[in-house]
Amino acid sequence: MILKGLLSLNGASAIRGLRLGRAEWSRSLQRTYQAVDPFSTRERRQETLLLRKIPEIASAEAFLWPSVIEVDLRFADVDGSTPTRDILSILALAMEQRPEAVLEFGTFWGSTTANLARNLPDAVIHTIDLPPERSQALVLTAGKPVDDVHLIESRQLGEAFRGSPLAKRIVQHAGDTATYDYSGIHDRLSFFLVDGSHTYEYARSDTLTSFRLATGACTIAWHDCDESHPGVTRWLGELIGAGLAVRRIQGTVVAYLRFDAGDKRIRTFAAG
Ligand SMILES: C[S@@+](CC[C@H](N)C(=O)[O-])C[C@H]1O[C@@H](n2cnc3c(N)ncnc32)[C@H](O)[C@@H]1O
Repeated sequence: MILKGLLSLNGASAIRGLRLGRAEWSRSLQRTYQAVDPFSTRERRQETLLLRKIPEIASAEAFLWPSVIEVDLRFADVDGSTPTRDILSILALAMEQRPEAVLEFGTFWGSTTANLARNLPDAVIHTIDLPPERSQALVLTAGKPVDDVHLIESRQLGEAFRGSPLAKRIVQHAGDTATYDYSGIHDRLSFFLVDGSHTYEYARSDTLTSFRLATGACTIAWHDCDESHPGVTRWLGELIGAGLAVRRIQGTVVAYLRFDAGDKRIRTFAAG
């Protein structure tokens, strides 16, 4: 603790103090203090421990990289879209699965939706997000444990596939993922991407919905399996505790599980 304080209070920080003024200097010192020790707060330590429970494997152990993946990156840099390194792993997992139909929770601009459609030319891609009208989306989520409200407000829903030939194989559903009636989906779903709200409650609910809708051998992927999303890592830790082989892919924040819809553990979760 003392050593850490001394490391934060070096000569450079004294010069910054003269330049920035007392309040800003104090904030800057706090930031440096936390950077010196990533375990500086109890929450931070908890978040790190949750993440460490999820075994990490190299992408080459998770799937065989396809020789060609076609990716439209125009929307990958929009704040809230899935970054390129993660899109590639999600697409490789999906291509190995070869699903007849996919369900994505959290469409946003539709970047991953469009790339899934592009690389799975025979599949139907179902994707769900809150209604595009801001007021309706806010009413539907009022009082619920959703996160990233700024993303809900900044969405251009499905912009990445609107007007493109890919849209013919994309079915946009509008509603709250936790309360939506999925009974209208009759396709054989075997690939799921959980990327809506990243709270524990929604990560759990969207996963259980996937387990209920799954047919045969399936793959489910979760985005944002990292320290900033302890709700996701906590939920994935519970799945691991039940003996399910959830893994996160090195160099990404993607976690995944291959499962059979008939597996007793999956059926038990689905019933819960
Ligand atoms: C991180 S973005 C999804 C990114 C997208 N999957 C991609 O790869 O580009 C999360 C999305 O989930 C949506 N969302 C958040 N809470 C939701 C809820 N309760 N029901 C439906 N959609 C929700 C947000 O509106 C937002 O568009």
